[in-house]
Amino acid sequence: MKLVIGSDHGGYALKEVVKAYLLEQGHAVSDRGTDDGETSVDYPDYGRAVAADVAAGKYACGIVICGTGIGISLAANKVHGIRAALCTDPYMARMARMHNDANILALGGRVVGPGLALAIVAAFLDSEFAGGRHARRVDKIMAIES
Ligand code: RB5
Repeated sequence: MKLVIGSDHGGYALKEVVKAYLLEQGHAVSDRGTDDGETSVDYPDYGRAVAADVAAGKYACGIVICGTGIGISLAANKVHGIRAALCTDPYMARMARMHNDANILALGGRVVGPGLALAIVAAFLDSEFAGGRHARRVDKIMAIES
């Protein structure tokens, strides 16, 4: 699968762990930065960059990471066509795909450890949108954009 990933400084360390895992699993990963964990940067820049790529159809899905996952998911969700879901466990990640057709997974680098984060990522990537009644609800979410 072709994925795009991005983080601020608070999510940088976890981004590197997630990126290595994805590459090991055979995925193609585009990294939109940031490129170190020391320099303070603004999470909206990275959330927006990943979200714009996903909304443009360049990648099947994206992963965004900041300290809590909150700010960067808020920013990503401002881009039309994006459904970014902040998940703290694999169940949420599975439901985000099955019920909400989330196209971006958001993680908090200061909230979840690397082992849990990878389990969340695996659950997100292994799950598919269930459609049916959930499609109607997702359509209603997207209608809010217009
Ligand atoms: C940066 O210190 C921090 O505010 C950011 O990573 C994130 O947690 C914001 O929601």
